[in-house]
Amino acid sequence: MKVDVLISPSELSSVDLRGMAVVVVDVLRATSTIVTALANGAAEVVPVETPEEALRYRLGDPAALACGARGGKPVEGFGLGNSPVEYTPERVEGRRIYLTTTNGTEAIRKAFERGAGEVLIGAFLNLSSVCDELRRRGRDIALICAGKEGRAGLEDLVFCGRCIERLGDEAELTDGAVIARIASRSFADVKEALLSSQHGRYLVSIGFERDIDFCAREDLFDLLPTAEPGDLIRITASPRCPTAPSQAPPRGCRA
Ligand code: MLT
Repeated sequence: MKVDVLISPSELSSVDLRGMAVVVVDVLRATSTIVTALANGAAEVVPVETPEEALRYRLGDPAALACGARGGKPVEGFGLGNSPVEYTPERVEGRRIYLTTTNGTEAIRKAFERGAGEVLIGAFLNLSSVCDELRRRGRDIALICAGKEGRAGLEDLVFCGRCIERLGDEAELTDGAVIARIASRSFADVKEALLSSQHGRYLVSIGFERDIDFCAREDLFDLLPTAEPGDLIRITASPRCPTAPSQAPPRGCRA
């Protein structure tokens, strides 16, 4: 099993993702937001390119929410921004979310352009769910970091490094994957890594320190959001359901 880490979506032009298990990571904050929205009962998340598109779709779908951010800040006229803590069950349960962000939703779209059959959504919030599934599939893996405007993002690299550690010693690593593992080993604490990142520092400077605490939480949800291609990309969640009938199923469990 080969593991490739694309340090930013600008590397996508040189890869063919057909047949690979593909994960998009935007820890700060798009994929953390998607995981939280679905864990709290959103019906689906539809990533769209622009704020105008999100508002247009919402007009024809009044029960839905237009959500997201530009430059980390909420967009005028949107129901919610890109702060995962806003996505409470009261606000999102049963609703479709048209989400647009500068880097994260764009990386998902580009992965499909490069041949991904489906895209798993990764964040620290669901780290084990994603990495266990990758190990179970046993296929070659591409971990795509959303980064920041075509550049690397430390927080996404640290996620990839943590995931690689869980895949075991037999994984064959590209140089990008080795770099991610080195980045991850430099931080014992995830929150410290997020606070050291350029985007983390920016989010703190505009008042979103609470999001850093939240996005640094490992395995808060046992959920595997999966994006499927189509006229619109749709992301839905498969919670891993308990096998023992005595256990209560998690919210949204389809089993
Ligand atoms: C993005 O996709 O651009 C990011 O998630 C930015 C943000 O923190 O809102």
